[in-house]
Amino acid sequence: MLPDVQFINRPQLIDMTWGHPDPALLPAEAMQQAATTALADGGATALPYGAEQGPGRLIELLCAKMARAEGSAPDPLRVAITGGISQAIDHLCTLLTRPGDIALVEAPTYHLAMRIMVDRGLRLIPVAADDEGVRLDALEETLAMLAARGERPTLLYTIPTFSNPAGATMGLKRRIALTELALAHHFTILEDDAYRDIWFENPPPPTIAALNQEAPVVRLGSFAKCLAPGLRLGWIVAPPAIIEAWRLSGLLDSGGGVNHFTACVVAELLATGELDRLGERLRSAYRIRRDTLVSALQEHLPPGASVASIAGGFFAWVKAPEGIDTVALLPRAEAAGLGYIPGARFFAGGGGNQYLRLSFSRVTLEQLRAGAQLLGKLFV
Ligand SMILES: Cc1ncc(COP(=O)(O)O)c(C=O)c1O
Repeated sequence: MLPDVQFINRPQLIDMTWGHPDPALLPAEAMQQAATTALADGGATALPYGAEQGPGRLIELLCAKMARAEGSAPDPLRVAITGGISQAIDHLCTLLTRPGDIALVEAPTYHLAMRIMVDRGLRLIPVAADDEGVRLDALEETLAMLAARGERPTLLYTIPTFSNPAGATMGLKRRIALTELALAHHFTILEDDAYRDIWFENPPPPTIAALNQEAPVVRLGSFAKCLAPGLRLGWIVAPPAIIEAWRLSGLLDSGGGVNHFTACVVAELLATGELDRLGERLRSAYRIRRDTLVSALQEHLPPGASVASIAGGFFAWVKAPEGIDTVALLPRAEAAGLGYIPGARFFAGGGGNQYLRLSFSRVTLEQLRAGAQLLGKLFV
């Protein structure tokens, strides 16, 4: 039988490969009510082709949510509804790039975003990152190296907030400096903001897009992690020219706004405050998992191994002791009952073999404890 969902159940494993929300935390009942309300006018709003930019009601409610959560909101004219971050990256590649163009990516970065850009014929160039994400000195070096060859990047793809896989968050100074570099070197920053709502102690710094209205920055937002990934719904905040290009593109002209029915349902969840309440529940549920995993790792990892600090998001970025290659270790780990993603998958230019990513979002507390113990044994 053909599958209905992407997740593949491997019951023999404590499977910490999937960066998916826990199905038990998906708000099915609230969604059902919201769908009923969205259809209360007989489907007159939710069932026709939608406005190209997305339903105005959702955009306005979303701007109000950003104002509540972030202290400022973009002009609604700078917002468009998307089919989630993956679809937005793909369509922005259509609008902003040509095959052969260069996209700079952090090393490490979200492996599947790299796949989308490679599908679009982009050449990926890695830029070294530290515990604040992309390093400015490495970026400037790369820009100079490209300029010497008569080239420049079209895009810089970055996850400055609770990054996947490293959990890194960029400070304010570096965010501002990035906007200045983008302006000076004429590249567009794709700011992947997938995990903003999943913070554990303090809300994160402002988005790069909010810091400089003149800079070419597209913030990529998603309802995948803070609501449900099957919705395939998100939004962009972008300079007016990019919103205009999005709105007028053939894809939107032909099909109307992306996932219009879903967008109308999500507007109801925002209007009733359900999305804010869900955010609270998710933060406390994932915080407990983070705490459980980190303390188990601290207990079981041998000397020479470490885990990066995790202030938000779904991932623990683990460094293995010297001499351990996490690609080579994986078959042994799976045979012992643990699934992880080797660090090498997240590096565009190779490397990362001493690292691995554990996702704590979709496993139980018992599994987190047992998984950390298994990893500790595999490392010695
Ligand atoms: C950093 C990052 N960006 C984007 C996505 C996918 O977003 P969406 O479901 O909105 O396409 C993920 C999912 O794992 C992610 O980790």
